This record gives sequence, structure tokens and C-alpha cells, in this order.
Amino acid sequence: MPATVIIGGQWGDEGKGKITDALAAQADMVVRPNGSTNAGHTVVTDQGVFKFHLVPSGVLHPACDCVIGAGVAVDPAQLLDEITALQARGVDLSRLYLSDRANVILPYHPALDRAEEQRRGTQSIGTTLRGNGPAYSDKVGRRGIRIADLLDESALVERLRLVLPEKNLLLASLYGEETFDAAALAERYAALGERLAPLVVQAEVLVQDALAAGKRVIVESAQATMLDVDYGTYPYVTSSMPTAAGACQGAGIGPTQVDTVIAVYKAYTTRVGGGPFPTELHDAIGQLLRDRGQEYGTTTGRPRRTGWFDAVAGRYAARLNGVTEVAVTKLDVLDALEEVRICVGYRLDGTPIDAPPSVAAVYERVEPVYEVLPGWREDTSQATSVDELPLNARRYLDRIAELLCVPVTMVGVGPQRRQLLHRTAGAAV
Ligand code: GDP
Ligand code: IMO
Ligand code: MG
Repeated sequence: MPATVIIGGQWGDEGKGKITDALAAQADMVVRPNGSTNAGHTVVTDQGVFKFHLVPSGVLHPACDCVIGAGVAVDPAQLLDEITALQARGVDLSRLYLSDRANVILPYHPALDRAEEQRRGTQSIGTTLRGNGPAYSDKVGRRGIRIADLLDESALVERLRLVLPEKNLLLASLYGEETFDAAALAERYAALGERLAPLVVQAEVLVQDALAAGKRVIVESAQATMLDVDYGTYPYVTSSMPTAAGACQGAGIGPTQVDTVIAVYKAYTTRVGGGPFPTELHDAIGQLLRDRGQEYGTTTGRPRRTGWFDAVAGRYAARLNGVTEVAVTKLDVLDALEEVRICVGYRLDGTPIDAPPSVAAVYERVEPVYEVLPGWREDTSQATSVDELPLNARRYLDRIAELLCVPVTMVGVGPQRRQLLHRTAGAAV
């Protein structure tokens, strides 16, 4: 049974958590392949609002195994806090597994994240300050500590003795920050490792066994294509690979084992942090989107930047990921508008271009070309099928599908589970 990959098609917070939760009802396993506690995935049920950071969004379905894959960077204390908070709300976490190959976020990672952001000054990335970038830098620099290393304190202290002199030098000399002691850190993290030990598995083997047994596996990516370290708005990106290919890598799945790639897009665009955003609105409509969409970061609470749907960046993402289906969320947020715009092209110094430029400073200069569509000025939040949506809303969705060259198979009209409308691929919107 091939796997399904869920990715973000924009700059994050598209509603991947909600879509994962919806599909997890029919799945046997959800795997998180990338990112760290920089992610915040929201699921709203009758029990209230759940904000997941490391735990996969399938965890509310008791029959679903949830796996934190090798590609994730894990802050052990934050994971334990998340588990404890979920348990306190009655969520069963007995089917949660953690890869022994996942890299660990240690306290020097957030310390360096903060210090590096300060040093960047006006060129700061606007990271989530969770230590994500420094942890992934250590991973590819082969200086990382992995979950398996926490399970052997004497090996851990040796590893830290190798790594820490460089960190301490940077922290003390360049940034004037506090340094860390290898033995103390090893003791603290071995204790955290002991608490996590019951969850630790060879996750890629678990995932492959599930696929071999014909189980339905979903890979729930964090972040989004335009934040990808290769294809996003570098350097205003995250440090892992939120593409479908990156999701395969992080989950331990080969590309031939995937048959469905669902990209999640908001019906408009948001972004948190710095970097190019051609369709950004600084006016009353931008504020309306922020207010109606409650566009404040799930992880950091920061106000999200808002703007029109960008079909150029959207199509770029759809192609890069080999997207087979699109979920459009938050259509209801646009209900109040008299007209809606879609960016259908970019102009750079007056010349049309059809893909995001590779250099952020050049991307900043791009001018969006808009198509204006009539709004629908009707409440869509109570719709129970796509057919019940106002004609102009269906036209808007049709146009998005046409521009992305991918069918829209799911439409979100509110945060609740029931506010997700399904349609089969191939049918007109
Ligand atoms: P993720 O990071 O991609 O999982 O997305 P987030 O959870 O960070 O942000 C999406 C936000 O939009 C959450 O607060 C969701 O509850 C909310 N949401 C998801 N789908 C819809 C929708 O269709 N309409 C509305 N109004 N809110 C939605
Ligand atoms: P989910 O999975 C939105 C952004 C940060 C910053 C940049 C780098 O909830 O969609 P980092 O802390 O990763 O080094 O920050 O990436 N960013 C996100 N934006 N949603 C996310 O995750 C994000 N994860 C990171 O705001 O601009
Ligand atoms: Mg989010």
C-alpha cells in the first residue's frame, strides 16, 4: 500500500495539521519527517484545540501509530512536556514512537539561534528561536547528538566533549553568552533519554514494516515548500526539507513508495518572519485577513504577514513536489470580501517571469500581476459539500486548481473537523 505525503504549498501554517487529522481517521500510521518545535499544527475537535509541535497530528485517532522520524530535530524536554500535556487531556500516547536517529536539540542550539538572530540585525530571519537552524547545521556538519546517544551516558559525555569546545568558544567569545559543561549536560540529557527510552525505535524499520504489511501510512511534513532550504526564499527559510522528497527522506520512505502527494494551501497567503512576499498586503484587507483568519503564530504567537493567493509560487511548489491533490483551507476567511485577487504572474523590472527568482533581494523586487475575481459575500462556514458553496467561491477554487494544474480535492471552511469538504479528483469544483 503506497504512502500519502502531506506538505505545505506556501510559507507554512496552511492547515497541514487539520488535513492530517482528517486523513488519519482512515490511516494506520502518521509519520512526522522534518522540522522541530518550530512547527505548530492545530487540530480542533469537540474536546477543544490541540496544538502539536513534535507529536504527529494523527495522535487523536486511537488506531493510528504515530512516529517521529529520523529527519526531525527533537528537544527532549519539549517533547516530554508535549506528551505530558496531551496525557493530561486524556490523549493516549501508547502508540507514539521516536526514531533513534533523530537529532537532538541541546540548550546551546537555542542560545546560538538567539545570538545569531541578534547579530543579523536588520537582516534577521525571524526564526522561531527554537534552535532549529543550529541543530540542523550540526547534523549535516556531523557534530550532532542523536536520540540513540542519549541512551548511553558515558558515550554521550565523550561526544559532548568533542562538540562543546567549539560551541563554548562561539558562545563566550563571539556572543558573550554562557557556556556549557559536558558532564553536567550529559547527566541532564541522559536522564531525559531514560524517560524517552520506551518510545525509541528504529523508526524507518517500523515504517517499512507497516508499508510491507499493506498499512496506510501518511507522512505529515512540517513547514512548507517556500521555506525549503534549497527551493525556498533562501536565506529566509527553515533548515530542513519540507518538500515531498524531504518528507520521504525524513520518514525513511522511497519515492516509489508514495502515490499521493497532497499540498495544503490557504485560500490566501501568510508568512511569519522575514523574507520576500510579493502579494503581501499592508492595508485594511491585510488586517481583515489577519483578524478573520486569526493569523497569529501557533508556536510563537507572532502576527502573521498576510496577502493574496500567489499562484506563481503555488505552481512552483506544486511542480517541485509532484503534487497530485490540493487542499485549500480557510476559504471562509474570504467570505467578507467584495472581490478577491489571485497573483497569476510576476514582473521583474517590467519583464514577465514565471518562477520565483533564486536571490531573495531580486525576489523582493518582483511585482505581482493580479487577476480580479468577484467575491461571494456569503457565509461558507456552514456548507456541508462543495456543491453548496456560492458559485463565485467555486469559481475561485476552480481558478486555483487551473493555475496550479492540480485538482482541489478538499476545501476548508472553518477550523472544525466537520468544516472540511471533500470532492473526488477529476470532478469539476
Ligand atoms: P499547520 O502548521 O499547517 O498545521 O497550520 P496551523 O495549525 O499553524 O495554522 C492553521 C490555522 O488555521 C489553525 O489555527 C487552524 O485551526 C485554522 N484552520 C485550519 N483550517 C481552517 C479553515 O478551513 N478555516 C478557518 N477559518 N481556520 C482553519
Ligand atoms: P508549520 O509546520 C510557519 C519560519 C520562521 C522563520 C523561518 C526560519 O507550523 O507550518 P526556524 O525556526 O525554522 O529556523 O525559522 O521559518 N517557520 C515557519 N513558519 N510555519 C512553520 O511551521 C514554520 N517553521 C518555521 O517563522 O521565518
Ligand atoms: Mg503551523
